[in-house]
Amino acid sequence: MRSSAVLILLVAARASASAAPSLSTLSLSSFPLPSPLSPTHPGASSSSSPSTPLSRLPPTLLPQSLSPSMPSTSNLASLSSSRSNNSPPSVLPTTTSIRVLTEPGPSGIPIIPYTFAAFPSPSSEPPIQGVYPASSPKLPPPVEIPALAPDFALAWTRAHQKAKAKIESWSLEEKVNITTGVGWENGRCVGNIAPIGDFPGLCLEDAPLGVRFADFATVFPAAINAASTWKRSLLRARGVAMGKEHVGKGVNIALGPMMNIGRVAQGGRNWEGFGADPFLAGVGAYETILGMQSAGVQACAKHYIDSEQENQRKVESSNIDDRTRHEIYVAPFLRSVMAGLASVMCSFNLVNGTYACENNNTLNGILKNELGFQGFVMSDWHAQHSTMSAMTGLDMTMPGDIFFFSNTTYFGTNLTAYVQNGTIPEARVDDMATRILASWYLLGQDSPNYPKTNFNAFLPLDEATNEHVDVQDNHGELVREIDRSSVVLLKNVNDALPLKKPRKLVLIGSDAAPAHIAGPNEFSDQGGVDGVLTIGWGSGTAWFTYKISPYEAFQARARIDHTSFSWFFDDFNLVGAATAAVEQDVAIVFLQSDSGEGYITVDGNVGDRNNLTAWLNGDALVQAVASQNNNTVVVVNSVGPLILEPWIDHPNVTAVVWAGLEGAETGNALVDVIYGAVNPSGRLPYTIAKSPQDYPAQLALGGNGEEILNITYLEGLFVDYRHFDAANITPRFEFGFGMSYTEFEYSDLNLVPVEYIGEGQDGQLEANWLAGKPGPQGVGSSTALWLHRPAFTVSFTIQNTAHVAGTEIPQVYLHFPVGAGEPPSVLRGFTDVELQPGEEKSVSVTLSRYDLSVWDVRSQSWMRALGTYSLSVGASSRDFRLKGTLSL
Ligand SMILES: *[C@@H]1O[C@H](CO)[C@@H](O)[C@H](O)[C@H]1NC(C)=O
Ligand SMILES: *[C@@H]1O[C@H](CO)[C@@H](O)[C@H](O)[C@H]1NC(C)=O
Ligand SMILES: *[C@@H]1O[C@H](CO)[C@@H](O)[C@H](O)[C@H]1NC(C)=O
Ligand SMILES: *[C@@H]1O[C@H](CO)[C@@H](O)[C@H](O)[C@H]1NC(C)=O
Ligand SMILES: *[C@@H]1O[C@H](CO)[C@@H](O)[C@H](O)[C@H]1NC(C)=O
Ligand SMILES: *[C@@H]1O[C@H](CO)[C@@H](O)[C@H](O)[C@H]1NC(C)=O
Ligand SMILES: *[C@@H]1O[C@H](CO)[C@@H](O)[C@H](O)[C@H]1NC(C)=O
Ligand SMILES: *[C@@H]1O[C@H](CO)[C@@H](O)[C@H](O)[C@H]1NC(C)=O
Ligand SMILES: *[C@@H]1O[C@H](CO)[C@@H](O)[C@H](O)[C@H]1NC(C)=O
Repeated sequence: MRSSAVLILLVAARASASAAPSLSTLSLSSFPLPSPLSPTHPGASSSSSPSTPLSRLPPTLLPQSLSPSMPSTSNLASLSSSRSNNSPPSVLPTTTSIRVLTEPGPSGIPIIPYTFAAFPSPSSEPPIQGVYPASSPKLPPPVEIPALAPDFALAWTRAHQKAKAKIESWSLEEKVNITTGVGWENGRCVGNIAPIGDFPGLCLEDAPLGVRFADFATVFPAAINAASTWKRSLLRARGVAMGKEHVGKGVNIALGPMMNIGRVAQGGRNWEGFGADPFLAGVGAYETILGMQSAGVQACAKHYIDSEQENQRKVESSNIDDRTRHEIYVAPFLRSVMAGLASVMCSFNLVNGTYACENNNTLNGILKNELGFQGFVMSDWHAQHSTMSAMTGLDMTMPGDIFFFSNTTYFGTNLTAYVQNGTIPEARVDDMATRILASWYLLGQDSPNYPKTNFNAFLPLDEATNEHVDVQDNHGELVREIDRSSVVLLKNVNDALPLKKPRKLVLIGSDAAPAHIAGPNEFSDQGGVDGVLTIGWGSGTAWFTYKISPYEAFQARARIDHTSFSWFFDDFNLVGAATAAVEQDVAIVFLQSDSGEGYITVDGNVGDRNNLTAWLNGDALVQAVASQNNNTVVVVNSVGPLILEPWIDHPNVTAVVWAGLEGAETGNALVDVIYGAVNPSGRLPYTIAKSPQDYPAQLALGGNGEEILNITYLEGLFVDYRHFDAANITPRFEFGFGMSYTEFEYSDLNLVPVEYIGEGQDGQLEANWLAGKPGPQGVGSSTALWLHRPAFTVSFTIQNTAHVAGTEIPQVYLHFPVGAGEPPSVLRGFTDVELQPGEEKSVSVTLSRYDLSVWDVRSQSWMRALGTYSLSVGASSRDFRLKGTLSL
């Protein structure tokens, strides 16, 4: 192991080993493996809309009597519990296990007869002046005007009308069938709904960065890198391209984007999301969904909600106060609903003691009522625990069986029986079927031209079901553009970068290399380490059609300058590495840190990272090289924050390039930035601390898989940089930080209220808000246009004051009035400005009333805080250049 870059892959109970040649792999799987190339076990997979008139009646979902809840029927068989015991000190146990899983019923509501009336159908009133006219998600507002709130109400109304008409002739069994997946591996996609009459059925497929288990498709940069571009145009373009590839493969519902917050730095799936700030994650989710759905595929916002770590993800209860849930964790889902989102995936975990897929408060209360979500909710793969979840808001069970290959289901004939004996009203099944069909109509998937599924996730070598359709188009160019825009320059002493025709260049570390054993898809679901790290592991992965490593790209570039080019890839031979660096003009050391989904274990990391230090001896490698070379450049491929303290201040470490997870074009993009063809403009989407203890929340360890692990979000609103600011802790690199090869000056801050006051009811709502009165409650109250349309314009000027062209990412941080209980600074706006040397541009960013509101728990509405609001505009969460006060 020390002499090899290949880490032993341990596959946890429900995953199975890859067919990679000559690897020490241990399969604990008891499931049949498909063909050698096959995806083996994806395990538990991966796992927003118009305002509506507030005057309409809320639904009735009321028990007609009360009775004690039923014992749980939850399935423990699918739990993985193979966590390593040698936890380093940075990982603090913070919780205790208190509740026995088999005691109370999981659905939170008793099995008794209910009544049901569907949430009011969406508004078809004329669009409000000053916002985007009513439209279809296939024609979203232009990305250049982010202030416009699209109004998809009319499109939803039409889609619901078509859906209602469609199910009129359907039997109860047919309506139930569209809610019930066919069971694991019973179809060509990771999730499948069978055809019903002339309705062709549905293909549900991962993933958040490309079409999983499909060939001739693109592996896009991970969402965490898309977020670190801080460029809406690229987030949108990535969504469009991913959407086109899913449509091209005949996928109806793409199981992404993922928008969990990254509360814990070690969280295994953080890289699948858009970083540690709800505003940034909200923009990421919004633009990605507008892009994907404009291409015609249904997006799926996941994982709803409060699923922030892999350890015990199926038996942990995330206990969060209502205000924090609304302001931090719901925020990206709110933006998703505003983007016309078609579907939501509820998560494995419990929320305040009730499973997320059985949770009336989060599903019916927040999602369908407050946010006015018009699409449907599916379970994560086997995250459902009862038939009664239909009454708490679940619309579709995935993959359909109660556990893998069980041949049983909570919906199907069970749901039919509950309807027949009067427990669940047929009106609710009508609503479930209507929502599922409405999402299909919303995206025009009823068109006879919509591609049929043309790949087979489980039998990739079966020629009868795989047409090998090439959906790549020119998306590699977009991947390269996102990649180079996502690179964050963290340190650059004496203009070490960009490189200027170095005479001698060496690349050091296996992370610079291609996989030396078996190509880019060596490990099942990327669950292993060999060569450059470009995405994490788990269901959020896809197969590489190609992958350009740094080694290939830098060698090709070095030839242009006649540079003497060399490499040293043995991470554990420090003497060799140091020797290779002697007398080189530049030594570039490549580090990595990986994580993924908990059904695969890599080097003892059960999904979540065991620590925040570099893998593969990385810190020692940098130190060895820097001891011999006074121009040592470090490139980091990491899923999230790393502690860089062992060498960050080393005088011979002249530059640090944060590359994240770049997907297929990583080598090319790094050459672009390091040689200066592109000026770096990426910004950190999270804080890099000096010590793991500096973060406000730690990974919750413990749990035995049978009891509920309680995780209380004690930090509340003080996630990531909000905590560092409030507790006055100096990070190594703050949220929003990133350097450039040029310099920018900020001037002329202007804060101007947006004049327009809404007419009629909206004008009254705005006046009430201004007076500090509670907002309205009801269907769509949190996504209402009066709340989200621009209220303030923040304008300023930026000038490029040095000698190369570059892009600045100005950021707007709001400082709430003292006493509002908010963190010192919260991100509320950003944009990207490209400037030639000497050029200056006037820039404006808008703030909505929602941006200026806090969630008032008592009135259950968004309210302004009383007192003085101020804001800062700057280059990071700590580098403020302009300050002003808002006059409300
Ligand atoms: C509903 O699904 C069940 C189980 O897959 C199947 O046996 C039945 O034929 C389906 N019914 C209809 C009407 O499609
Ligand atoms: C959920 O748990 C948090 C933390 O224990 C608590 O503050 C909050 O009141 C709980 N919310 C509900 C609705 O029970
Ligand atoms: C479920 O949530 C809805 C919407 O908030 C509410 O009207 C209803 O009373 C809740 N039902 C139960 C059983 O708590
Ligand atoms: C489910 O059905 C299949 C096919 O009939 C059978 O092979 C399998 O054993 C069944 N599984 C269970 C858990 O009964
Ligand atoms: C109905 O659900 C129960 C669990 O509540 C399960 O044990 C049973 O197998 C299901 N029936 C069918 C036919 O799937
Ligand atoms: C309806 O069926 C379910 C499942 O068999 C059962 O738990 C429930 O008690 C039944 N309700 C009535 C009123 O018979
Ligand atoms: C951190 O985890 C990585 C990956 O498992 C391992 O290589 C490294 O040695 C660990 N670091 C420490 C300090 O334990
Ligand atoms: C920096 O590198 C030079 C070789 O260029 C070496 O002599 C010196 O000792 C190094 N400095 C440190 C602090 O390691
Ligand atoms: C770095 O080392 C080289 C010799 O390898 C030397 O020419 C150069 O002056 C040194 N640079 C600094 C800044 O010490």
